[in-house]
Amino acid sequence: MDKRYQTLIMKMGFVAFVIMVITGFLPLIMGEKVLSGWWMISHATVAPIFSILMAIGALLWVKSTGNGFKDTDKSKCTKKIVWVFLILFIPNALSILFSMNTWFPSATQQPFLSVHFYTAIGMLLFAILYLNISRKKNN
Ligand code: HEM
Repeated sequence: MDKRYQTLIMKMGFVAFVIMVITGFLPLIMGEKVLSGWWMISHATVAPIFSILMAIGALLWVKSTGNGFKDTDKSKCTKKIVWVFLILFIPNALSILFSMNTWFPSATQQPFLSVHFYTAIGMLLFAILYLNISRKKNN
């Protein structure tokens, strides 16, 4: 794929992630107990777009850097951070999807929401770490 399209997908994925973080955490920071109203609508609307961009972005990233830790000019540390971020997305997405259907009893809804919340914090921390390390390398 053209490098320009790859960069565009990565940038769109980043913007979608920022929207997910803002619509997920800001209402809680402002004192709401759960997401509701426009926060919830925005969060749930951007979620499928973000998920698709994550999947395509992950495939393109693995294709361009290789899935091993030796065959790349990127540091092992940066690659590990991206892998942890990608792996955290699996429980993050599955927990909220499972909490919203009838496969599990309603008593599991709260624990699933907690998994969503804590994996979201993890993803945010690893994204910040990645940006910080990349910024230092470029300087
Ligand atoms: C597959 C993608 C995602 C979907 C479908 C999704 C969906 C949802 C839904 C429906 C809620 C409301 C749950 C409720 O109040 O009962 C929620 C809450 C939340 N989401 Fe997401 N989300 C996704 C990804 C993310 C990401 C990537 C982040 C941030 C990194 C995030 C952060 C949050 C936070 C902080 C909450 C509030 C949790 C709480 O009230 O304890 N979400 N999400």
